[in-house]
Amino acid sequence: MSDMSKKLIIFDTTLRDGEQSPGASMTREEKVRIAKSLEKMKVDIIEAGFPIASQGDFESVKAVAEAIKDSTVCGLARALDKDIDRAGEALKNANRARIHTFIATSPIHMKMKLRMEPDAVIEQAVAAVKRARKYTDDVEFSPEDAGRSDLDFLCRILEAVIDAGATTLNIPDTVGYNVPDQFGKLIHSLRENIPNSDKAIFSVHCHNDLGLAVANSLSAVMNGARQVECTINGLGERAGNASLEEVVMAVKTRQDIFKCDTSIATQFIVPTSRLVSGITGFAVQPNKAIVGANAFAHESGIHQDGVLKNRETYEIMRAEDVGWAANRMVLGKHSGRNAFKTRMKELGTTFETEEALNKAFGRFKTLADKKHEIFDNDLQSLVTEASQNMVNEFVKLRSVKVCSETGEVPNAIVTLSINGEEQVGESVGSGVVDATFKAIETVISSDSELQLYSVNAITSGTDAQGEVTVRLEKAGRIVNGQGADIDIVIASAKAYVNALNKLLTPYDKAHPQQGDV
Ligand code: KIV
Ligand code: ZN
Repeated sequence: MSDMSKKLIIFDTTLRDGEQSPGASMTREEKVRIAKSLEKMKVDIIEAGFPIASQGDFESVKAVAEAIKDSTVCGLARALDKDIDRAGEALKNANRARIHTFIATSPIHMKMKLRMEPDAVIEQAVAAVKRARKYTDDVEFSPEDAGRSDLDFLCRILEAVIDAGATTLNIPDTVGYNVPDQFGKLIHSLRENIPNSDKAIFSVHCHNDLGLAVANSLSAVMNGARQVECTINGLGERAGNASLEEVVMAVKTRQDIFKCDTSIATQFIVPTSRLVSGITGFAVQPNKAIVGANAFAHESGIHQDGVLKNRETYEIMRAEDVGWAANRMVLGKHSGRNAFKTRMKELGTTFETEEALNKAFGRFKTLADKKHEIFDNDLQSLVTEASQNMVNEFVKLRSVKVCSETGEVPNAIVTLSINGEEQVGESVGSGVVDATFKAIETVISSDSELQLYSVNAITSGTDAQGEVTVRLEKAGRIVNGQGADIDIVIASAKAYVNALNKLLTPYDKAHPQQGDV
């Protein structure tokens, strides 16, 4: 789209706000994989993290900045010198870098959290933007909790930061309190009342506490916002952020209303959604718009009949346009390396080295020996599993043996390798999965609590792979582990061990909205 006023900029914050969902923390390698998928999807800006939050966050932002060439890479910073310098340092090798700085502007946040007078908040915001401009010309400013801030005060601070060099003004509804009409009017009023408003792009960042994040974002677009901040699958702090796939498909499908479009290559939406859900362990609900398994499934006979006669009777979008390749039976045990590599490329995965390709192909062959028909979803789960294995593997699963018999107590024997040394654990349990987890714990004694156990069949049929997610909590830290196998006990053991490996990896992370990092 050549006319820039008609372009809606997509700013993805899956790796930053999305990662703030409890339990959704990602390793550096996982972040780079997701970032590459976002780049392939032609996301304009990728917010990669909050560099001051921890050494791990800093390194993740740096790694994403070095891996991504086409999208702008953004780092978050409070309006503090040390935050901005850290973000500048993390982004120094980026092809295109943005610093996103923020300070709270609502009366309650200024008084109770910052304990600052409004004039001092403006001064600090201006100083932060000026400092960020020393690192990059692309500086975004957010008045945190704008949705509950005073309009006149917002106008004052935003005018001042534009003069100081901010190029994007992001208006967050931090606590998801606004409703569409009100939020749209806020954007309209800001654009009307700020004298230099034409010098910056207006952006919005809506949280979903009342289930209105997408509606509020779209209302803002109708009132002149030209950037939307969103996340894959609507991941994010508490109830999440506006979901990227819903915003993108709404403006694409209803251009008659929104009069703008994005640059998003929509056919990569579903593969990216699956990647994010696999890595974070946050399953997508079946009736979720665009990316839910039922989003394009017609159950009622009347609907099916209509769609067969003319798909537009009941379909406003084409499933294939968002990447729902009909989950085809694509490969089998006689398929070669080249066929495997080609199909993986079509699904959005390229292998950086021959070694990575060979390893993935090896896993494919093992699966194909057990399962005759390999579907697209099976192939995608192989990649997810490979990424899970990239966490430091202190503990490796060697074997699982279970015994389940009517009238008998289930029993499991598990062999683990811990830093190269084999150890065996055995336990009974209320079922074979319970016994397996207890057997692992007799060896590891992690002292963690199991918060979630879920199994999802990747394809249909009794030979389908089960994809298991395990969520463990220890001393306030929450991690997710995944495992896939056609034997769900083995998938469960893999997922549990994966979660333990994450739990055993040192961690020093804080939340951006916290007063002290
Ligand atoms: O929700 C929020 O206010 C944020 C800011 C840091 C933009 O995430
Ligand atoms: Zn947020």
